Amino acid sequence: MLEVNRLSHSFAGKVAVDDLSLSVDRGEIVGLVGRNGAGKTTTMRAIMGILDPDSGSIVWDGRPITRSDRIAFGYMPEERGLYPNMTIRS
Ligand SMILES: Nc1ncnc2c1ncn2[C@@H]1O[C@H](COP(=O)(O)OP(=O)(O)OP(=O)(O)O)[C@@H](O)[C@H]1O
Ligand SMILES: [Mg+2]
Repeated sequence: MLEVNRLSHSFAGKVAVDDLSLSVDRGEIVGLVGRNGAGKTTTMRAIMGILDPDSGSIVWDGRPITRSDRIAFGYMPEERGLYPNMTIRS
């Protein structure tokens, strides 16, 4: 149902995800396990469309994932997604 195909992403030359492929079948529960900085959150962000990866693709039900697919997803990140340098007023 979900396919991650050859996903790679770097931040300022630092490789965060290197050629990752995985698939998840309907009804299957999958966990990403890895040391700090292994690339789990970057992978989730690419799946959710929060981050545009350098290369690779996300496939949903056999076709490229769309915004309307993602609207139906639930995602609770470890970080709240606030901008630490922004004040309430700005
Ligand atoms: N926005 C960013 N800017 C620069 N580097 C980043 C950014 N996000 C992640 N990285 C770097 O990419 C690599 C992968 O980070 P990521 O957050 O995906 O790992 P993680 O497996 O989720 O780690 P943790 O277990 O600590 O949550 C790390 O080296 C991290 O420092
Ligand atoms: Mg993380």
